[in-house]
Amino acid sequence: MWDGQELSPAVSNSACAVFQNFNVRRSTPNLTATAESSLTVPVHRSSVADGEHRRGKYLDMPAPVWHSNWSSMLFLSVILCLANFWLASAANNGLARTPPLGWNSWNRFACDISEETILSAAKSLVTTGLKDVGYEYVVIDDCWHADTRDPETNAPLWNPVTFPSGIDNLSDQIHSLGLKFGIYSSAGIHTCANRFGSLGYEDIDAKTYASWGVDYLKYDNCWNEGLSGNTTISYKRYEKMAHALNATGRPILYAMCNWGEDQSWTWAGELANSWRMSGDIADLFTGYDPGCPCTSLENCTQFGYRCAVTRILDWAADIAPYSGPGGWGDLDMLEVGNGNMTKDEYITHFSMWALVKSPLMLGNDLANMTAQTLDIISNKAIISINQDPLGVAASRVAQMPLEEGDVQVWVGPLADEATVVAIVNTSPANVTVTLPWSEILPPQLLALERVVRIFDLWQRVDDKRWGQELGPFTSLLSEAKLRPHETKVYRLEPQSTQDFAEFTVQS
Ligand code: GLA
Repeated sequence: MWDGQELSPAVSNSACAVFQNFNVRRSTPNLTATAESSLTVPVHRSSVADGEHRRGKYLDMPAPVWHSNWSSMLFLSVILCLANFWLASAANNGLARTPPLGWNSWNRFACDISEETILSAAKSLVTTGLKDVGYEYVVIDDCWHADTRDPETNAPLWNPVTFPSGIDNLSDQIHSLGLKFGIYSSAGIHTCANRFGSLGYEDIDAKTYASWGVDYLKYDNCWNEGLSGNTTISYKRYEKMAHALNATGRPILYAMCNWGEDQSWTWAGELANSWRMSGDIADLFTGYDPGCPCTSLENCTQFGYRCAVTRILDWAADIAPYSGPGGWGDLDMLEVGNGNMTKDEYITHFSMWALVKSPLMLGNDLANMTAQTLDIISNKAIISINQDPLGVAASRVAQMPLEEGDVQVWVGPLADEATVVAIVNTSPANVTVTLPWSEILPPQLLALERVVRIFDLWQRVDDKRWGQELGPFTSLLSEAKLRPHETKVYRLEPQSTQDFAEFTVQS
Protein backbone atom coordinates (compact mmCIF):
# COMPACT_ATOMS: atom_id res chain seq x y z
CA MET A 1 0.00 0.00 0.00
CA TRP A 2 2.90 2.31 0.74
CA ASP A 3 6.54 1.71 0.19
CA GLY A 4 8.45 3.28 3.04
CA GLN A 5 11.30 0.97 3.93
CA GLU A 6 10.13 0.50 7.49
CA LEU A 7 6.63 -0.28 6.33
CA SER A 8 7.40 -2.94 3.76
CA PRO A 9 5.04 -5.89 4.12
CA ALA A 10 6.20 -8.82 5.92
CA VAL A 11 5.41 -13.86 6.29
CA SER A 12 5.19 -15.73 9.50
CA ASN A 13 4.17 -19.31 10.02
CA SER A 14 3.08 -18.86 13.58
CA ALA A 15 -0.60 -19.08 14.39
CA CYS A 16 -0.87 -17.68 17.88
CA ALA A 17 0.78 -18.00 21.20
CA VAL A 18 -0.27 -19.31 24.53
CA PHE A 19 0.04 -16.87 27.29
CA GLN A 20 0.28 -18.17 30.79
CA ASN A 21 0.73 -15.28 33.11
CA PHE A 22 1.32 -11.62 33.19
CA ASN A 23 1.25 -9.02 35.86
CA VAL A 24 -1.20 -6.22 36.12
CA ARG A 25 -1.12 -3.54 38.72
CA ARG A 26 -3.93 -1.11 38.80
CA SER A 27 -4.36 2.18 40.44
CA THR A 28 -7.63 3.99 40.39
CA PRO A 29 -8.18 7.46 41.83
CA ASN A 30 -9.14 5.66 45.06
CA LEU A 31 -6.04 3.56 45.24
CA THR A 32 -2.52 4.71 45.85
CA ALA A 33 0.42 3.20 44.12
CA THR A 34 1.06 1.02 47.11
CA ALA A 35 -2.39 -0.48 46.80
CA GLU A 36 -1.43 -2.03 43.51
CA SER A 37 -1.95 -5.74 43.29
CA SER A 38 0.03 -8.25 41.32
CA LEU A 39 -2.06 -10.92 39.69
CA THR A 40 -1.62 -14.05 37.68
CA VAL A 41 -3.75 -14.58 34.68
CA PRO A 42 -4.81 -18.05 33.64
CA VAL A 43 -4.64 -19.05 29.99
CA HIS A 44 -7.86 -18.06 28.40
CA ARG A 45 -9.36 -21.07 26.71
CA SER A 46 -12.60 -19.34 25.91
CA SER A 47 -15.19 -21.29 24.01
CA VAL A 48 -12.88 -22.03 21.12
CA ALA A 49 -12.41 -25.53 22.40
CA ASP A 50 -16.03 -26.58 22.16
CA GLY A 51 -15.80 -26.96 18.48
CA GLU A 52 -18.34 -29.47 17.23
CA HIS A 53 -21.22 -27.07 16.78
CA ARG A 54 -19.11 -24.56 14.89
CA ARG A 55 -18.68 -26.79 11.88
CA GLY A 56 -20.57 -25.47 8.94
CA LYS A 57 -22.72 -27.90 7.09
CA TYR A 58 -21.14 -26.76 3.87
CA LEU A 59 -17.64 -26.45 5.08
CA ASP A 60 -16.03 -29.38 6.73
CA MET A 61 -13.58 -27.17 8.47
CA PRO A 62 -12.25 -28.23 11.83
CA ALA A 63 -13.29 -25.78 14.49
CA PRO A 64 -10.48 -23.82 16.08
CA VAL A 65 -8.87 -25.71 18.93
CA TRP A 66 -6.66 -24.21 21.57
CA HIS A 67 -3.27 -25.88 21.85
CA SER A 68 -0.50 -25.22 24.24
CA ASN A 69 2.60 -25.96 22.26
CA TRP A 70 4.08 -24.70 19.07
CA SER A 71 3.97 -27.92 17.07
CA SER A 72 0.24 -27.95 17.69
CA MET A 73 0.15 -24.31 16.73
CA LEU A 74 1.84 -25.08 13.47
CA PHE A 75 -0.69 -27.83 12.82
CA LEU A 76 -3.49 -25.43 13.63
CA SER A 77 -2.10 -22.80 11.34
CA VAL A 78 -1.84 -25.31 8.48
CA ILE A 79 -5.47 -26.27 9.05
CA LEU A 80 -6.48 -22.63 9.13
CA CYS A 81 -4.52 -21.90 5.97
CA LEU A 82 -6.33 -24.75 4.25
CA ALA A 83 -9.60 -23.50 5.62
CA ASN A 84 -8.75 -20.07 4.32
CA PHE A 85 -8.06 -21.54 0.92
CA TRP A 86 -11.43 -23.26 0.90
CA LEU A 87 -13.13 -20.14 2.12
CA ALA A 88 -11.43 -17.95 -0.40
CA SER A 89 -11.88 -20.26 -3.34
CA ALA A 90 -15.55 -20.68 -2.56
CA ALA A 91 -16.33 -16.95 -2.86
CA ASN A 92 -14.80 -17.40 -6.29
CA ASN A 93 -14.40 -13.77 -7.30
CA GLY A 94 -10.77 -13.13 -6.42
CA LEU A 95 -11.67 -10.07 -4.36
CA ALA A 96 -10.82 -9.00 -0.82
CA ARG A 97 -7.48 -10.76 -0.47
CA THR A 98 -7.09 -8.33 2.41
CA PRO A 99 -10.02 -6.82 4.36
CA PRO A 100 -11.92 -4.13 2.44
CA LEU A 101 -11.24 -0.52 3.42
CA GLY A 102 -13.69 2.29 2.77
CA TRP A 103 -16.55 4.40 4.01
CA ASN A 104 -20.26 3.64 4.52
CA SER A 105 -23.05 6.16 5.03
CA TRP A 106 -25.12 4.40 7.72
CA ASN A 107 -23.48 5.02 11.10
CA ARG A 108 -23.40 8.78 10.67
CA PHE A 109 -26.20 9.59 8.24
CA ALA A 110 -28.68 6.67 8.40
CA CYS A 111 -31.47 7.56 5.92
CA ASP A 112 -30.51 11.22 5.74
CA ILE A 113 -28.52 10.77 2.53
CA SER A 114 -28.34 12.32 -0.92
CA GLU A 115 -25.91 12.37 -3.79
CA GLU A 116 -24.16 15.33 -2.13
CA THR A 117 -23.60 13.37 1.08
CA ILE A 118 -22.04 10.49 -0.78
CA LEU A 119 -19.97 12.54 -3.20
CA SER A 120 -18.72 14.77 -0.44
CA ALA A 121 -17.52 11.73 1.49
CA ALA A 122 -15.80 10.42 -1.64
CA LYS A 123 -14.06 13.74 -2.25
CA SER A 124 -13.01 13.91 1.37
CA LEU A 125 -11.36 10.50 1.12
CA VAL A 126 -9.14 12.04 -1.54
CA THR A 127 -8.48 15.45 -0.01
CA THR A 128 -7.71 14.15 3.48
CA GLY A 129 -5.22 11.58 2.18
CA LEU A 130 -7.35 8.66 3.39
CA LYS A 131 -7.45 7.26 -0.14
CA ASP A 132 -3.65 7.22 -0.11
CA VAL A 133 -3.57 5.05 3.00
CA GLY A 134 -5.88 2.51 1.38
CA TYR A 135 -9.55 3.43 1.87
CA GLU A 136 -11.22 2.80 -1.46
CA TYR A 137 -14.89 1.71 -1.27
CA VAL A 138 -17.59 4.38 -0.95
CA VAL A 139 -20.80 2.59 0.02
CA ILE A 140 -24.34 3.96 0.09
CA ASP A 141 -26.23 2.07 2.75
CA ASP A 142 -30.02 1.88 3.09
CA CYS A 143 -32.51 4.47 1.74
CA TRP A 144 -31.22 5.24 -1.76
CA HIS A 145 -34.38 3.67 -3.20
CA ALA A 146 -37.38 5.04 -5.06
CA ASP A 147 -40.77 4.12 -3.63
CA THR A 148 -41.15 1.17 -5.98
CA ARG A 149 -39.31 -0.82 -8.60
CA ASP A 150 -39.82 -0.11 -12.25
CA PRO A 151 -43.39 -1.37 -12.77
CA GLU A 152 -42.56 -2.80 -16.19
CA THR A 153 -39.14 -4.37 -15.82
CA ASN A 154 -39.01 -4.81 -12.02
CA ALA A 155 -35.57 -3.21 -12.09
CA PRO A 156 -34.59 -1.29 -8.94
CA LEU A 157 -34.89 2.50 -9.20
CA TRP A 158 -33.14 5.20 -7.19
CA ASN A 159 -34.90 7.99 -5.36
CA PRO A 160 -35.17 10.78 -7.95
CA VAL A 161 -35.36 13.50 -5.32
CA THR A 162 -32.27 12.63 -3.31
CA PHE A 163 -30.28 11.24 -6.25
CA PRO A 164 -31.42 13.54 -9.10
CA SER A 165 -28.34 12.94 -11.25
CA GLY A 166 -28.74 9.21 -10.95
CA ILE A 167 -26.81 6.55 -9.10
CA ASP A 168 -25.08 5.50 -12.31
CA ASN A 169 -23.78 9.03 -12.63
CA LEU A 170 -22.72 9.14 -8.98
CA SER A 171 -20.87 5.89 -9.50
CA ASP A 172 -19.02 7.41 -12.49
CA GLN A 173 -17.98 10.38 -10.42
CA ILE A 174 -16.72 8.17 -7.62
CA HIS A 175 -14.76 6.09 -10.12
CA SER A 176 -13.25 9.20 -11.63
CA LEU A 177 -11.82 9.98 -8.18
CA GLY A 178 -10.00 6.65 -8.34
CA LEU A 179 -12.38 5.06 -5.82
CA LYS A 180 -14.83 2.15 -5.91
CA PHE A 181 -18.55 2.30 -5.46
CA GLY A 182 -20.83 0.20 -3.26
CA ILE A 183 -24.54 -0.15 -2.67
CA TYR A 184 -26.90 -1.86 -0.21
CA SER A 185 -29.87 -4.21 -0.35
CA SER A 186 -31.47 -6.90 1.79
CA ALA A 187 -32.09 -10.62 1.24
CA GLY A 188 -35.68 -9.93 2.19
CA ILE A 189 -38.79 -8.37 0.73
CA HIS A 190 -37.89 -5.02 2.34
CA THR A 191 -34.67 -3.50 3.57
CA CYS A 192 -34.26 -2.80 7.28
CA ALA A 193 -35.55 0.74 6.67
CA ASN A 194 -38.52 -0.60 4.72
CA ARG A 195 -37.40 0.09 1.18
CA PHE A 196 -37.84 -2.65 -1.43
CA GLY A 197 -35.55 -5.64 -0.88
CA SER A 198 -34.00 -8.09 -3.32
CA LEU A 199 -35.53 -11.42 -2.26
CA GLY A 200 -36.92 -12.92 -5.47
CA TYR A 201 -35.27 -10.20 -7.55
CA GLU A 202 -31.66 -11.26 -7.20
CA ASP A 203 -30.89 -11.55 -10.92
CA ILE A 204 -32.40 -8.27 -12.06
CA ASP A 205 -30.91 -6.45 -9.10
CA ALA A 206 -27.41 -7.83 -9.62
CA LYS A 207 -27.57 -7.01 -13.34
CA THR A 208 -28.81 -3.50 -12.66
CA TYR A 209 -26.14 -2.87 -10.02
CA ALA A 210 -23.49 -4.06 -12.49
CA SER A 211 -24.87 -1.68 -15.11
CA TRP A 212 -24.55 1.15 -12.57
CA GLY A 213 -20.89 0.29 -12.06
CA VAL A 214 -21.31 -1.15 -8.57
CA ASP A 215 -18.15 -2.74 -7.11
CA TYR A 216 -19.49 -3.76 -3.68
CA LEU A 217 -22.84 -5.00 -2.38
CA LYS A 218 -23.77 -4.97 1.30
CA TYR A 219 -26.57 -7.52 1.61
CA ASP A 220 -28.73 -7.34 4.73
CA ASN A 221 -31.11 -9.75 6.47
CA CYS A 222 -34.33 -7.88 7.28
CA TRP A 223 -37.78 -9.05 6.17
CA ASN A 224 -36.48 -12.42 5.10
CA GLU A 225 -39.90 -14.07 5.15
CA GLY A 226 -38.83 -16.63 7.72
CA LEU A 227 -36.14 -17.97 5.42
CA SER A 228 -33.69 -18.43 8.26
CA GLY A 229 -33.50 -20.60 11.32
CA ASN A 230 -31.06 -23.16 10.04
CA THR A 231 -27.88 -23.11 8.05
CA THR A 232 -29.34 -24.61 4.87
CA ILE A 233 -32.15 -22.11 4.56
CA SER A 234 -29.96 -19.09 5.24
CA TYR A 235 -27.20 -20.39 3.01
CA LYS A 236 -29.55 -20.91 0.06
CA ARG A 237 -31.03 -17.43 0.41
CA TYR A 238 -27.61 -15.77 0.36
CA GLU A 239 -26.29 -18.13 -2.31
CA LYS A 240 -28.82 -16.76 -4.81
CA MET A 241 -27.27 -13.33 -4.71
CA ALA A 242 -23.75 -14.79 -4.82
CA HIS A 243 -24.65 -16.56 -8.06
CA ALA A 244 -26.42 -13.52 -9.45
CA LEU A 245 -23.41 -11.30 -8.76
CA ASN A 246 -20.98 -13.79 -10.29
CA ALA A 247 -23.23 -14.13 -13.35
CA THR A 248 -22.87 -10.41 -14.10
CA GLY A 249 -19.19 -10.93 -14.91
CA ARG A 250 -18.36 -7.74 -13.01
CA PRO A 251 -16.17 -8.15 -9.93
CA ILE A 252 -18.54 -7.14 -7.12
CA LEU A 253 -17.37 -7.59 -3.56
CA TYR A 254 -20.12 -9.45 -1.68
CA ALA A 255 -20.53 -8.19 1.89
CA MET A 256 -23.07 -10.40 3.67
CA CYS A 257 -24.87 -8.79 6.58
CA ASN A 258 -26.91 -11.48 8.33
CA TRP A 259 -25.49 -10.50 11.75
CA GLY A 260 -24.13 -14.01 12.43
CA GLU A 261 -27.54 -15.68 12.25
CA ASP A 262 -27.36 -19.47 11.81
CA GLN A 263 -23.64 -19.39 12.68
CA SER A 264 -22.90 -17.75 9.35
CA TRP A 265 -19.21 -17.41 10.23
CA THR A 266 -18.93 -21.17 9.56
CA TRP A 267 -20.33 -21.04 6.02
CA ALA A 268 -20.41 -17.44 4.76
CA GLY A 269 -16.85 -17.71 3.47
CA GLU A 270 -18.07 -20.06 0.77
CA LEU A 271 -20.29 -17.35 -0.62
CA ALA A 272 -19.11 -13.92 0.41
CA ASN A 273 -16.06 -11.74 0.88
CA SER A 274 -17.14 -10.57 4.31
CA TRP A 275 -19.85 -11.42 6.79
CA ARG A 276 -21.25 -9.40 9.64
CA MET A 277 -21.11 -11.36 12.86
CA SER A 278 -23.17 -9.25 15.27
CA GLY A 279 -26.06 -6.89 15.70
CA ASP A 280 -25.46 -3.25 14.85
CA ILE A 281 -22.65 -1.36 16.49
CA ALA A 282 -23.38 1.90 18.30
CA ASP A 283 -21.07 4.74 19.29
CA LEU A 284 -20.64 3.07 22.70
CA PHE A 285 -17.46 1.65 24.14
CA THR A 286 -18.74 -0.79 26.70
CA GLY A 287 -21.72 -1.95 28.70
CA TYR A 288 -24.93 -3.79 28.15
CA ASP A 289 -27.79 -2.19 26.27
CA PRO A 290 -31.18 -3.92 26.02
CA GLY A 291 -31.11 -3.01 22.32
CA CYS A 292 -28.38 -5.64 21.90
CA PRO A 293 -29.70 -8.39 24.14
CA CYS A 294 -27.72 -11.52 23.24
CA THR A 295 -25.19 -12.79 25.73
CA SER A 296 -23.53 -15.16 23.27
CA LEU A 297 -23.31 -15.42 19.52
CA GLU A 298 -24.11 -19.08 19.52
CA ASN A 299 -27.77 -18.93 20.41
CA CYS A 300 -28.53 -15.36 19.47
CA THR A 301 -31.83 -14.77 17.72
CA GLN A 302 -32.34 -11.08 18.47
CA PHE A 303 -29.27 -9.41 17.06
CA GLY A 304 -30.43 -5.87 17.63
CA TYR A 305 -28.52 -2.63 17.51
CA ARG A 306 -26.69 -0.53 20.11
CA CYS A 307 -24.00 -3.16 20.54
CA ALA A 308 -20.93 -1.79 22.33
CA VAL A 309 -17.40 -2.15 21.00
CA THR A 310 -16.24 -4.45 23.81
CA ARG A 311 -19.24 -6.78 23.37
CA ILE A 312 -18.60 -7.18 19.65
CA LEU A 313 -14.92 -7.76 20.37
CA ASP A 314 -15.79 -10.49 22.90
CA TRP A 315 -17.85 -12.28 20.27
CA ALA A 316 -15.19 -11.82 17.61
CA ALA A 317 -12.57 -13.44 19.85
CA ASP A 318 -14.25 -16.80 19.41
CA ILE A 319 -14.68 -16.72 15.67
CA ALA A 320 -11.84 -14.64 14.30
CA PRO A 321 -9.95 -17.72 13.02
CA TYR A 322 -12.61 -18.23 10.37
CA SER A 323 -11.36 -15.15 8.53
CA GLY A 324 -8.74 -15.31 5.82
CA PRO A 325 -7.81 -13.98 2.38
CA GLY A 326 -11.00 -13.67 0.32
CA GLY A 327 -13.44 -13.79 3.28
CA TRP A 328 -13.46 -11.75 6.49
CA GLY A 329 -15.55 -11.58 9.64
CA ASP A 330 -17.05 -8.10 9.76
CA LEU A 331 -17.32 -6.48 13.19
CA ASP A 332 -19.48 -3.70 11.67
CA MET A 333 -18.64 -0.23 10.42
CA LEU A 334 -16.42 2.03 12.49
CA GLU A 335 -17.75 4.66 14.88
CA VAL A 336 -14.47 6.56 15.16
CA GLY A 337 -15.22 10.27 14.99
CA ASN A 338 -18.94 10.09 15.72
CA GLY A 339 -18.41 11.82 19.03
CA ASN A 340 -19.54 9.61 21.88
CA MET A 341 -16.28 7.88 22.78
CA THR A 342 -13.01 9.18 24.13
CA LYS A 343 -9.82 9.27 22.08
CA ASP A 344 -8.50 6.17 23.89
CA GLU A 345 -11.77 4.33 23.25
CA TYR A 346 -11.67 5.13 19.54
CA ILE A 347 -8.04 3.99 19.42
CA THR A 348 -9.02 0.70 21.04
CA HIS A 349 -11.95 0.30 18.63
CA PHE A 350 -9.82 1.04 15.55
CA SER A 351 -6.85 -1.06 16.71
CA MET A 352 -8.86 -4.14 17.54
CA TRP A 353 -10.95 -4.05 14.37
CA ALA A 354 -7.63 -3.91 12.53
CA LEU A 355 -6.06 -6.79 14.50
CA VAL A 356 -8.96 -9.20 13.98
CA LYS A 357 -8.93 -8.35 10.28
CA SER A 358 -12.38 -6.83 10.14
CA PRO A 359 -13.19 -4.71 7.11
CA LEU A 360 -12.40 -1.12 8.09
CA MET A 361 -15.37 0.84 6.83
CA LEU A 362 -15.30 4.37 8.19
CA GLY A 363 -18.66 5.54 9.50
CA ASN A 364 -18.13 9.21 10.34
CA ASP A 365 -18.68 12.51 8.54
CA LEU A 366 -15.46 12.74 6.57
CA ALA A 367 -16.12 16.29 5.42
CA ASN A 368 -16.31 17.55 9.01
CA MET A 369 -13.93 15.57 11.13
CA THR A 370 -11.40 16.67 13.69
CA ALA A 371 -7.65 16.38 13.26
CA GLN A 372 -7.72 13.81 16.05
CA THR A 373 -10.18 11.59 14.19
CA LEU A 374 -8.16 11.83 10.99
CA ASP A 375 -5.03 11.01 12.91
CA ILE A 376 -6.56 7.82 14.33
CA ILE A 377 -8.07 6.48 11.10
CA SER A 378 -4.97 7.22 9.06
CA ASN A 379 -2.48 5.42 11.30
CA LYS A 380 -0.65 3.53 8.55
CA ALA A 381 1.10 1.18 10.93
CA ILE A 382 -2.26 -0.02 12.30
CA ILE A 383 -3.79 -0.22 8.83
CA SER A 384 -0.84 -2.32 7.70
CA ILE A 385 -1.61 -4.83 10.49
CA ASN A 386 -5.12 -5.10 9.04
CA GLN A 387 -3.81 -5.37 5.48
CA ASP A 388 -0.93 -7.72 6.27
CA PRO A 389 -0.62 -10.23 3.40
CA LEU A 390 -0.59 -13.26 5.71
CA GLY A 391 -4.24 -12.50 6.52
CA VAL A 392 -4.46 -14.22 9.92
CA ALA A 393 -6.63 -12.60 12.59
CA ALA A 394 -5.05 -12.05 15.99
CA SER A 395 -6.25 -14.27 18.85
CA ARG A 396 -7.08 -13.29 22.38
CA VAL A 397 -4.61 -15.23 24.49
CA ALA A 398 -5.29 -13.84 27.95
CA GLN A 399 -8.01 -12.00 29.76
CA MET A 400 -7.82 -10.86 33.33
CA PRO A 401 -11.06 -9.62 34.87
CA LEU A 402 -10.97 -6.33 36.75
CA GLU A 403 -13.79 -4.34 38.21
CA GLU A 404 -16.00 -3.18 35.32
CA GLY A 405 -13.80 -4.60 32.61
CA ASP A 406 -10.63 -6.52 32.09
CA VAL A 407 -7.16 -6.50 30.65
CA GLN A 408 -6.78 -8.55 27.50
CA VAL A 409 -3.76 -9.64 25.49
CA TRP A 410 -4.09 -10.36 21.79
CA VAL A 411 -1.37 -11.85 19.57
CA GLY A 412 -1.27 -12.40 15.84
CA PRO A 413 1.25 -13.55 13.26
CA LEU A 414 2.25 -11.20 10.46
CA ALA A 415 4.18 -11.66 7.24
CA ASP A 416 8.00 -11.75 7.36
CA GLU A 417 8.02 -13.44 10.76
CA ALA A 418 6.71 -10.40 12.51
CA THR A 419 4.13 -10.53 15.29
CA VAL A 420 1.56 -8.07 16.55
CA VAL A 421 0.70 -7.87 20.24
CA ALA A 422 -2.08 -5.73 21.71
CA ILE A 423 -2.79 -5.03 25.35
CA VAL A 424 -6.35 -3.81 25.85
CA ASN A 425 -7.60 -2.19 29.03
CA THR A 426 -11.41 -2.27 28.95
CA SER A 427 -11.64 -1.21 32.60
CA PRO A 428 -12.11 2.32 33.94
CA ALA A 429 -8.86 2.03 35.97
CA ASN A 430 -5.28 2.92 35.12
CA VAL A 431 -3.33 -0.32 34.86
CA THR A 432 0.33 -1.23 34.71
CA VAL A 433 1.05 -4.38 32.78
CA THR A 434 4.21 -6.43 32.72
CA LEU A 435 4.34 -9.02 30.00
CA PRO A 436 6.93 -11.76 29.59
CA TRP A 437 7.56 -12.02 25.87
CA SER A 438 8.54 -15.66 26.29
CA GLU A 439 4.91 -16.46 27.03
CA ILE A 440 3.52 -15.04 23.85
CA LEU A 441 6.07 -14.84 21.09
CA PRO A 442 6.66 -17.56 18.52
CA PRO A 443 9.86 -19.51 19.21
CA GLN A 444 11.55 -18.46 16.00
CA LEU A 445 11.24 -14.84 17.00
CA LEU A 446 12.31 -15.55 20.57
CA ALA A 447 15.36 -17.44 19.35
CA LEU A 448 16.61 -14.16 17.93
CA GLU A 449 16.55 -12.69 21.41
CA ARG A 450 18.23 -9.32 21.38
CA VAL A 451 17.82 -8.84 17.65
CA VAL A 452 14.05 -8.50 17.84
CA ARG A 453 12.85 -4.95 17.26
CA ILE A 454 9.75 -3.68 19.02
CA PHE A 455 7.64 -0.78 17.83
CA ASP A 456 4.83 0.96 19.67
CA LEU A 457 2.36 1.67 16.86
CA TRP A 458 0.47 4.45 18.64
CA GLN A 459 3.59 6.40 19.50
CA ARG A 460 3.85 7.99 16.10
CA VAL A 461 7.24 9.06 14.88
CA ASP A 462 6.75 9.92 11.24
CA ASP A 463 5.03 8.54 8.20
CA LYS A 464 7.84 6.25 7.22
CA ARG A 465 8.19 4.27 10.41
CA TRP A 466 5.98 1.86 12.30
CA GLY A 467 6.07 3.92 15.47
CA GLN A 468 8.45 4.61 18.32
CA GLU A 469 11.01 1.84 18.66
CA LEU A 470 11.34 0.58 22.21
CA GLY A 471 14.77 0.02 23.68
CA PRO A 472 16.72 -3.20 23.21
CA PHE A 473 14.74 -6.41 23.47
CA THR A 474 14.58 -7.86 26.97
CA SER A 475 12.64 -10.83 28.29
CA LEU A 476 9.82 -8.63 29.59
CA LEU A 477 7.66 -5.84 28.37
CA SER A 478 8.06 -4.02 31.62
CA GLU A 479 5.41 -1.87 33.24
CA ALA A 480 3.39 -0.71 30.27
CA LYS A 481 1.01 1.90 31.62
CA LEU A 482 -2.48 1.96 30.17
CA ARG A 483 -5.10 4.58 30.82
CA PRO A 484 -8.76 3.59 31.20
CA HIS A 485 -10.02 2.00 27.96
CA GLU A 486 -6.65 2.40 26.28
CA THR A 487 -4.98 -0.11 23.96
CA LYS A 488 -1.31 -0.44 23.16
CA VAL A 489 -0.24 -2.16 19.97
CA TYR A 490 3.29 -3.49 19.46
CA ARG A 491 4.85 -4.82 16.32
CA LEU A 492 7.78 -7.19 16.91
CA GLU A 493 10.02 -8.15 14.06
CA PRO A 494 13.43 -9.58 13.40
CA GLN A 495 16.16 -7.15 12.48
CA SER A 496 16.92 -7.05 8.77
CA THR A 497 19.84 -9.25 7.71
CA GLN A 498 22.05 -6.21 7.48
CA ASP A 499 21.14 -5.06 10.95
CA PHE A 500 21.79 -8.57 12.17
CA ALA A 501 25.28 -8.57 10.67
CA GLU A 502 26.05 -5.27 12.34
CA PHE A 503 24.77 -6.57 15.60
CA THR A 504 26.94 -9.68 15.53
CA VAL A 505 30.02 -7.61 14.71
CA GLN A 506 29.32 -5.31 17.61
CA SER A 507 28.88 -8.14 20.05
C1 GLA B 1 -29.28 -3.19 9.42
C2 GLA B 1 -27.78 -3.30 9.25
C3 GLA B 1 -27.16 -1.94 9.40
C4 GLA B 1 -27.76 -0.96 8.39
C5 GLA B 1 -29.26 -0.92 8.54
C6 GLA B 1 -29.92 -0.14 7.41
O1 GLA B 1 -29.63 -2.83 10.72
O2 GLA B 1 -27.24 -4.21 10.16
O3 GLA B 1 -25.75 -1.99 9.25
O4 GLA B 1 -27.40 -1.38 7.11
O5 GLA B 1 -29.81 -2.23 8.52
O6 GLA B 1 -31.31 -0.12 7.52
